[in-house]
Amino acid sequence: MPLKIALIASEAVPWCKSGGLADVVGALPRALIEAAAEGGGDAVQVALFLPLHRQVREHLGRSERSVEDTGIALRVPMGLGCSEPVRIFRATGDAGESVFLIDAPHRFDREGLYNDAENRSFGDNGERFALLCRAALEVMPHLMGGAPDIIHAHDWQAALAPVYLEHRYRRSMPHTRSLLTIHNLAYQGLLPASAGGYLDLDDDFFRMERGEYYGNINLLKGGMAYADAVTTVSPSYADEVRTPRFGCELDGFIRAHVPVHGILNGIDVESWDPSADPALAARYDADDIRGKATCRAALAEAAGLQLQPGEALLGVVSRLAGQKGLDLVADLVPELSGLGARLVLLGDGDPALEDRFRWLSNTFSQHLTIRLGFDPALARRLIAGSDMLLLPSRFEPCGLTQLYAMRYGTVPVVHAVGGLRDTVIDPGDAALARGEGTGFRFEHPTVDGLRWALRRALRMHREDPAGWRTLIRTGMTQDFSWARSARAYLDLYRRALAA
Ligand code: ADP
Ligand code: GLC
Repeated sequence: MPLKIALIASEAVPWCKSGGLADVVGALPRALIEAAAEGGGDAVQVALFLPLHRQVREHLGRSERSVEDTGIALRVPMGLGCSEPVRIFRATGDAGESVFLIDAPHRFDREGLYNDAENRSFGDNGERFALLCRAALEVMPHLMGGAPDIIHAHDWQAALAPVYLEHRYRRSMPHTRSLLTIHNLAYQGLLPASAGGYLDLDDDFFRMERGEYYGNINLLKGGMAYADAVTTVSPSYADEVRTPRFGCELDGFIRAHVPVHGILNGIDVESWDPSADPALAARYDADDIRGKATCRAALAEAAGLQLQPGEALLGVVSRLAGQKGLDLVADLVPELSGLGARLVLLGDGDPALEDRFRWLSNTFSQHLTIRLGFDPALARRLIAGSDMLLLPSRFEPCGLTQLYAMRYGTVPVVHAVGGLRDTVIDPGDAALARGEGTGFRFEHPTVDGLRWALRRALRMHREDPAGWRTLIRTGMTQDFSWARSARAYLDLYRRALAA
């Protein structure tokens, strides 16, 4: 009998995306299927449950993928005697996994995934994602040929799945175990206690060691309390969430009640491959990186930046959110000409930060070009064409762009925190030039810290071309594939089932 795994998430590539969550959930089905096959044990059957967002509809319209109506139309029970109408469509992912799309246009057919055009959260996000969880649990035993062995929920949007499993679906899924992966503890799904009626939460949920939070509802906390196992996306972040600095006010609860396993994210090395990426101006690999110079020239030209000999091209691809520390980059923009660097930034999010970068790019137009928006193809060209990618995140559960950067021969300059600490190795300049590390780290998220690390990177780039080439090659030949992490998830699933 194959191990049946149901993934629940609010986004996944190629269907819809706002950040790294989508990359990870999109890559997991193949990773799990391949790891199980290589491990020689039981095969796995993976199904993914996603909201049918407007972005998904648009993706289906553009792509060749077929989607079928499962014929299942139901009213999903909510609290207070209410219910919501839902239909279920089925598509097939690239690894052959079933992707079940929860069609509820009144909740999901919107321009953004979570926010409106002004970057304000939708007022009914709690109800929207409660519906995702509840609908998925209602239909999964039927759609998967029996109850799944594992429900693997991702982030606060899916955090009610372990709760509903315990309180509402034990009869239909008596042996199913649940796992919650926290991709970012800063987003918890906070709701007033009065929302509990419609969400159909039991009194048990409202206990301090469950989902209650200063008199309110905390969906992520509830999910952590009810899940059989909790993971986060890097070992360092698993330690950090136990501290007041990174615990987002849940550190005490975590220390007392929740063992958090750190399983580092992989990347989809087939999709993110500079030797095959159709978005790039030229293709290259670790043995022949000449194409990278073409990508660099194309990026500088598209950005209207006139690079002088010896100067470096810096890149940023990021959500513009406080987490990412981009105010430090903004602080440094006036110094770029003195440092001998020019910068291309692609990002969107916080309107105040967008305004600040707009102003900076007008004022320092020779040294800074910005593109405000979400543009996956440009993200790839930017990562390939830059010499260095800046990631001064204040906290970073894992971070994927530094992994993409290394794979594309772009040197990451990062704050040593969370997954950035776990993936970017910095043993000092001389060792970096000998191929013993992969990037530049700084310990304090201040503009001085960033400037210090950037200066080191710029000096090596300018003065030691051979060392720089070695550094690039070392980054490009690291193994960031999913194999090891997928094995760790399978192992955890089996332990949860055996417990
Ligand atoms: P987070 O999920 O916190 O945003 P990650 O580094 O895990 O951070 O993942 C970010 C993902 O989103 C990467 O795939 C990155 O390339 C992509 N991304 C971020 N901002 C943009 C943007 N403005 N346009 C296109 N892709 C973006
Ligand atoms: C979150 C985190 C990011 C992580 C991603 C995928 O968005 O902010 O660090 O890489 O999830 O797990």
